[in-house]
Amino acid sequence: MTFHVQPGDLMHLDPDDEKILDGEQGETRQKMLELLVALGKVFGAERLVRIRSAQVSGASYKTIGEYGLAWLSSLDARAVVPSVLNPIGMPRERWQEMDVEPAFAERQQAVITAYERLGVNLECTCTPYYLRETSFGDHLAWSESSAVSYANSVIGARTNREGGPGALAAALIGKTPCYGLHLEKNRNPQVIIEVKPDEKNWSIARYGALGYHAGKMVGNKIPYFRNITPNPDQLKALGAAMAATGAVALYHVEDVTPEAKKNRFNLSALEVIGIEPAEIDMLFTGIPVDAVAVGCPHCSPAELVDIARLLKGKSVTKPFYIFAAQGVIGNNQKTVNAIEKSGARVFADTCMVVSPVMERYSAIMVNSGKALAYVPDMCGAVARIGTIEDCVTVATS
Ligand code: F3S
Repeated sequence: MTFHVQPGDLMHLDPDDEKILDGEQGETRQKMLELLVALGKVFGAERLVRIRSAQVSGASYKTIGEYGLAWLSSLDARAVVPSVLNPIGMPRERWQEMDVEPAFAERQQAVITAYERLGVNLECTCTPYYLRETSFGDHLAWSESSAVSYANSVIGARTNREGGPGALAAALIGKTPCYGLHLEKNRNPQVIIEVKPDEKNWSIARYGALGYHAGKMVGNKIPYFRNITPNPDQLKALGAAMAATGAVALYHVEDVTPEAKKNRFNLSALEVIGIEPAEIDMLFTGIPVDAVAVGCPHCSPAELVDIARLLKGKSVTKPFYIFAAQGVIGNNQKTVNAIEKSGARVFADTCMVVSPVMERYSAIMVNSGKALAYVPDMCGAVARIGTIEDCVTVATS
């Protein structure tokens, strides 16, 4: 694709950027900056903003195929900010143990090698915030929708939901167009969700189910929740699901999330949507399943500890997959060993949605609202949501 972008055209560019556009630093950096400028023009950005990190999607061979691999292999530049990948179609080291087809593994490895050549860190995860400090106000160029939601909402960093090429271009240039959620004025709530109080202690799965339900109602608006008090893992589940059934890239929770605590939002004119707990409970069914998969988004250390506790002294009777970032697994190896004593497997780099292995099951139990939304289409399987306690019970009974 050819872009015709004149230096300085519609956007303020630094002299260094103009040199890149002149081709002084090679064709790849030239094309990547042209892409960022073109995106900025489409979305009305007045300038580029420096980013602290990038997270690049389009890493699973299942989704990018030969065409994507050929494009990546044609590029010649190095990332200039810390950059990681979205989950790929297999664990990089234990793919045989996950029973991945050798032919797929060979092509997936080629994709990984292409990214490695571009200086992208081969950590493949949707939870990059567990690996590298990300702070309030940081500008980022992240791709994966749950990571984008967590960065914006739970951390108070700033990122649009980048497409794979846009995030890669940002990684190679170190900047992204400054529009959308990079601007304070676009981060205000647009709809209020009032969850009717109930007596239950809400689980991570119930927050995921709330997100599944709420995402369908709010679409791409910025919701402001009242009457809930989720912890960070529960916020992660809530945001991931809303990004899947809707297109929510930022949400606020009264007295919980950083911008809701810091800002005095004017909420008086906003529509209020009420959600009854019974609407959430309806999503929990008892359908039989032939596999259980948790870690969508990838598990936190606390979630791994919880799973190890629940599995203690038990053996799995059906495949039980747990997904987490390689760095989180490495830092919690004893906990992972305790989990795997049961026969469950903790895999890095991949997940129940992007790995072709999951397509062999007809019904999969998850504890995630996002997985509940994606498993049917991406794996061709029926999905059932349950708490982590229910998942362990089903996997070991
Ligand atoms: Fe992450 Fe895969 Fe879920 S990328 S958010 S574990 S669908």
